[in-house]
Amino acid sequence: MSILVTGGTGFIGSHTCVELLEAGYDLVVFDNFANSKPSVIDKIVDITGKGFKFYHADMADKNSLERIFSENDIDCVIHFAGYKAVGESVEKPLMYYQNNITGTLNLLETMSEYNVKRIVFSSSATVYGIPKSVPITEDEPLSVTNPYGRTKLMIEDILRDLYVSDNSWAIILLRYFNPVGGHPSGLLCEDPNGIPNNLMPRILDTAFGKQDKINVFGNDYPTVDGTGVRDYIHVLDLAKGHVKAVERIMRVNDIQAINLGTGRGYSVLELIKTFEEVNNVKVPVEFAPRRPGDVAECYADTRKASEMLGWKAQLGVTEMCRDSYRARLMLEHGSDDK
Ligand code: UFG
Repeated sequence: MSILVTGGTGFIGSHTCVELLEAGYDLVVFDNFANSKPSVIDKIVDITGKGFKFYHADMADKNSLERIFSENDIDCVIHFAGYKAVGESVEKPLMYYQNNITGTLNLLETMSEYNVKRIVFSSSATVYGIPKSVPITEDEPLSVTNPYGRTKLMIEDILRDLYVSDNSWAIILLRYFNPVGGHPSGLLCEDPNGIPNNLMPRILDTAFGKQDKINVFGNDYPTVDGTGVRDYIHVLDLAKGHVKAVERIMRVNDIQAINLGTGRGYSVLELIKTFEEVNNVKVPVEFAPRRPGDVAECYADTRKASEMLGWKAQLGVTEMCRDSYRARLMLEHGSDDK
């Protein structure tokens, strides 16, 4: 069975490729390296001892997609490719709509032409906007607060319309909460181009002296210690969730949105404290005003993932902090010795 992975050298894509190869699937991967590096390909091969077919291609180029589908017998697609920086999407909305929406339409049209009707889409908890209550179930009303989030919601809507038009499709929309961590080998991790915005990359930058302290956005939220609470999930658990999603779309033709989170929230200060303890490093903090658009608490109701996919996150914040740090050490120093 052959799976096409778009954006397969990115953070979540690369970990998912490892899990899929280890589960015995044949892969065809494409990426344009907009936010990843070619060396990731060799790292996936090193970890798994298995090869796969790779195309340096862009989903904006429909001819490349046609070529990939005509040269391979693809059974299903996992679609990660897309821009994902919230702030950048506010500054460059057209670039986000062009890449994420047009690229996805090209992909779906090509899939239709080649009669490939199974897709797992990389969505996000961002589609819940400002949730009314936690834990968040998949039935929560959907709304978004920025162009990046809107591209995720639009693609969800496109896929829902597609299913209504032809119910022989099998579609899973995976809504990720806050992915962190890295491969335990230290070979794969989040390696964002440019200045990171998310909490874990900033904790890492501070631990490695790239910034002298981390700004904690808001300490007056109605939470355990006043700082924002999120559902951090180890990227390895997320990757395993995709393997389960593939198993389901090969069996059942329907459309499902499914949360991938741990179901447990941690505050900013709890995460930083765990990181310091696990890795024996200091991460100085300074309180700063709330970041516009942030919510106090966001964590998943995970029952649907457990019932429909037989999936549950196994790794906790200790492993998330350990593996994020180890992978960054390897990236900076080529080994995990401090
Ligand atoms: N935070 C800080 N300081 C920082 C960065 C973040 O205090 O320097 C805080 C935020 O205020 C928030 C928490 O850390 O309370 C997590 O912030 P992130 O930016 O890491 O993550 P978000 O929850 O804001 O957003 C993430 C992804 C989005 C995705 C969303 C889904 O970045 O792409 O989760 O809920 F849509």
